[in-house]
Amino acid sequence: MSPFPIAIDPPVLLAPMAAVTDLPFRTVCEEFGVGLTITEFLSAHALTKGDRKTTGKLTASLGGRPFGVQIFGREEEPMQRAAEMAVEIGASLVDINMGCPAKRVVAGDCGSALMREPKVAQSLVRAVVAAVPAHVPVTVKHRAGWSQDERNAPEFACAMVDAGARMITVHGRTRSQGFSGASDLGIIAAVRAAVPSEIPVVGNGDVVDVEGYLAMRRATGCDAVMIGRGAMGNPWLFARIRAVCAGQVDPGPPTLEERLTTFRRHVGLILQLKGGPRTLHEVRKACGWYARGLYGCNALRIEVWAATTAQAAIEQVERFFVERLANAPRQRRGARDVLAPLADPEPGTGSPAEESIGLEDSGSGEDDAGRAGDLAKRGNPGHDIGDAA
Ligand SMILES: Cc1cc2nc3c(=O)[nH]c(=O)nc-3n(C[C@H](O)[C@H](O)[C@H](O)COP(=O)(O)O)c2cc1C
Repeated sequence: MSPFPIAIDPPVLLAPMAAVTDLPFRTVCEEFGVGLTITEFLSAHALTKGDRKTTGKLTASLGGRPFGVQIFGREEEPMQRAAEMAVEIGASLVDINMGCPAKRVVAGDCGSALMREPKVAQSLVRAVVAAVPAHVPVTVKHRAGWSQDERNAPEFACAMVDAGARMITVHGRTRSQGFSGASDLGIIAAVRAAVPSEIPVVGNGDVVDVEGYLAMRRATGCDAVMIGRGAMGNPWLFARIRAVCAGQVDPGPPTLEERLTTFRRHVGLILQLKGGPRTLHEVRKACGWYARGLYGCNALRIEVWAATTAQAAIEQVERFFVERLANAPRQRRGARDVLAPLADPEPGTGSPAEESIGLEDSGSGEDDAGRAGDLAKRGNPGHDIGDAA
């Protein structure tokens, strides 16, 4: 029997990422077979106040596919109302963010700050559980702990489960690590060992390929793996993991044709679903993703960011691929080239992760991604980025 409170098959999730896991990207990952996607973290306060930018990010997956909504806050009433709003749009689960290390989030005693207040965190979980129907599980995503001296993830996870959480995701870094160092498989294993076996534990941090996926499962005993940066511009990873989980041969990295097809699908979804003044920014972001690792991709990225219309940016990428395909020896066209890691694990060094949030409008004080963008702009690598777990 599946350990999950809802079906997550294969056992791999797309990590919530502010200004990254929007509906177009979630859709692309779903089409490549990810087990579940979750919205980026949404401020309960902003949702309940009807902030348009935030409510605009509360989106159901297409085609009736299951999805999760992640919310953050520390006041019970807004958290309850936000959870109800998630259920109203058909969320299959409501995840509570207790891992965000961003200064502006922890300054409000939200996100990873809750790991220092397990009793408050428990009350929040109880309140949200009480607000949603029993068939909608409430889950918690948190970090290894606040700091090296406060690595309380196993006890914290158990306290959340006692309060009613039905799945735990743990990113194996502390709040003070930000993105520096490595995600600790040992703490994920310790959480798995501590939490009752009927509650699934999802491991998270630094998985960028099939080998990493298998290694995390093996080393920690976790029930599923959540992948964030490793999926950016690399949604094929989910198809590869799906195949391997089904006992099939790993189809390998994408060919040039597959990259181009996926790029077209992704920008097509942006144009179809987004619209409005942010479209150009969103298209530019996707344009940079799908050529990565290929000769000339840096020059392309610069050209794309200089483009003044979405159409011009798209045409540059099309041209780039047409040239690559024409110049590739026939036997190389279908070759499956290994993708270079997309996201620099050290935000603040111009990684796509930073770009994607750093160029986000700072928006109202309630705008989650805007907040992350503010933080990224201030450039305190490894600590301030809008990483939320
Ligand atoms: C740009 C960016 C935005 C993020 N936003 C969120 C978020 O909204 N909620 C959350 O729980 N974690 C967020 N995270 C953290 C990821 O979900 C994940 O825990 C972290 O990136 C480690 O996993 P990875 O190594 O697979 O990327 C974000 C990370 C990045 C890079």
